[in-house]
Amino acid sequence: MPPSADSGDRERELETLLSQALEALAQAKDSAALEEVRIKFLGRKGTLTAQFEHLRSNALGAEEKARFGRKLNDAKRRIEEALQQKRREGGSSAPHASNAPDLTLPGRLPEAGRLHPVTQTIDEITSIFRSIGFSVVDGPELETDHNNFTALNFPADHPSRDGFDTFYLAKDPPRWSEDGTPLLLRTHTSPVQIRFMKRRKPPFMIIVPGRVFRRDAVDAAHCFQFHQVEGLTVGPGINFGDLKGVLDFWTKRMFGPSSRLRFRPHYFPFTEPSAEADLSCVFCNAQGCRVCGQKGWLEMLGCGMVHPNVFKAVGYPPGTTGFAFGMGVERIAMFRYGIEDIRHFFENDVRLLSQFP
Ligand code: DAH
Repeated sequence: MPPSADSGDRERELETLLSQALEALAQAKDSAALEEVRIKFLGRKGTLTAQFEHLRSNALGAEEKARFGRKLNDAKRRIEEALQQKRREGGSSAPHASNAPDLTLPGRLPEAGRLHPVTQTIDEITSIFRSIGFSVVDGPELETDHNNFTALNFPADHPSRDGFDTFYLAKDPPRWSEDGTPLLLRTHTSPVQIRFMKRRKPPFMIIVPGRVFRRDAVDAAHCFQFHQVEGLTVGPGINFGDLKGVLDFWTKRMFGPSSRLRFRPHYFPFTEPSAEADLSCVFCNAQGCRVCGQKGWLEMLGCGMVHPNVFKAVGYPPGTTGFAFGMGVERIAMFRYGIEDIRHFFENDVRLLSQFP
C-alpha cells in the first residue's frame, strides 16, 4: 500500500520537529537551556514523545507504522546525540553529564621531594658535632694527587696507595693541576684537611662531609661512589683522650646511650698512632647476631693523631698537635635503617626513597 497523504504530512512534520530541535540545541548557551530543549522535545509531554503516542494509537497501517517508527527512532537518536555532544562541549554541570568536572573533589597535591637518606644521615652526624663546636667545611670532588696522597704522607711509591683504586683524569692538558700533579676524583675527604690547613691557623675543629670515589667493583658493600664525614681538630695539647671523648660523645648521641666504641690499633699514613673504631652492634647490643656476623661489633671509622709529616706539608711548626677521623656515611645509614645493600642508595628507586620522610 502506498503511503497515505496523511503519512506524508506526518513525515514532513517530523522533519520540521527534528530541525527545530537541532537548531534549538545549537542555540542553547548553558546547561539550563539544554535541559529546556530536552524537555520540550523528549520530555514526557514533549513534541517528539507525542509522535510516539500517535504511533502506538493504531491509526496507521502496519507498513506505514514500521516506516514511520523507523524515522521517529532515527530522529530521537539524532536529537539525543546532539544533546550529548553539546553537554560534552559545554562542560555542562548538569548532574547526569558524565564529563562534567566534579568541583567537590579534593585538589591534586603536587609531588613534594624529600631529603635523601644519605643527606639525612649527614645532617644528623654533622649536627651532633656542631653542637660541640665543630664547623662544617667542604672541598672539591676533583682533587690533585698532591692533596689526596702526597701531602697526607703517602709518597708516590707508598704501598698504601694500592688500597685506594683511583680514578685519574687523562694526563693531557688542560686537565692537569696547578701544583703539577695528576688530577683525580678524590678517594677520601682527607685532602680537605690539607686545603683547610693551608688557609687557616689553629686552633680549629672542623667536620667535612662529602662524596668520594673508588675504582671498586660494585657489590652489596662496595660502590664506585660513596660519602664520608671527615673530622679534624688542631690545637695546643690535643691528645688521644680528646679524640676518644669526642667520638664517644658523638656515638651515644647518634646511636643511643647504651652504644659504645672499641678502638683497635690500625695503620693510616696520615695519623700516628692510628686506630679503627668499632661500634657495639646496634641490633644485638654486642651479643652477636646475623648483621654483625656474630662478632658483636661493627667496623665504623678510622682515626688517629695527625702525623707530623702532614703538619709539615702544610707549613705548621713542629710540635703541633691534633686528631683526625673519617667515617663512611652509607655504612652508618645501613646500620641505622637496616638496609642490606649499598646500591639501594644510588638506584634512585622512589619505593625506597619514599620510606624516608
Ligand atoms: N681517609 C680514610 C679512608 O678513607 C679514613 C680516615 C682514617 C680518615 C683515619 C682520617 C683518619 O682522618 O684519621 O679510609
